Amino acid sequence: MWISLIGFMGSGKSTVGRRTAERAFASCIDFDAEIAAEAGRSIAEIFARDGEAEFRALERRALEAVDRDGDGVLACGGGIVEAWSNRELLRSLGVVVWLDASWETLRARLESDGGERPLVGDLGWDGLEELYLRRRPLYAATAHFRLRADLDDVEETARRVAACRSAARPRKEASP
Ligand code: S3P
Repeated sequence: MWISLIGFMGSGKSTVGRRTAERAFASCIDFDAEIAAEAGRSIAEIFARDGEAEFRALERRALEAVDRDGDGVLACGGGIVEAWSNRELLRSLGVVVWLDASWETLRARLESDGGERPLVGDLGWDGLEELYLRRRPLYAATAHFRLRADLDDVEETARRVAACRSAARPRKEASP
């Protein structure tokens, strides 16, 4: 069974995903990293050269390539929930957990990580906050569980994600 982490940029999906997988000796597929490795270019370069639509197509392809019978953690890009078909597919793969954090926390993290997320530069802080507010209902509709990701404690968040997984797993019949 897969456990998928969704949430806005800066919510910690990749870090928490890796840690959750390590705890369970399972694998973690980080879609952005996989897309970049396959394309031989960074996500920012894909956005700049091919546009967001092409990136979304690659993201969709990465999601479709997930082995339905596999097991582990999927660290999704923040925009994966934009497409209805992605939301459906994610839910059909297992448990979906929304790492939710306040806008203030996310903005502070995005400001300090100095990374190269293309939408940060393209939309600016006001546009990004609008996107955050617009996406919240999409995260809510996709997730089976919502966890507060304001804590800067990866270990504790990973522990809670693992607990969501256990809660969702069908219990084995007790032996007679
Ligand atoms: C995006 C989020 C990014 C990456 C791309 C688009 C988005 O992933 O997929 O830049 O639309 O929110 P992270 O959420 O891991 O930063």
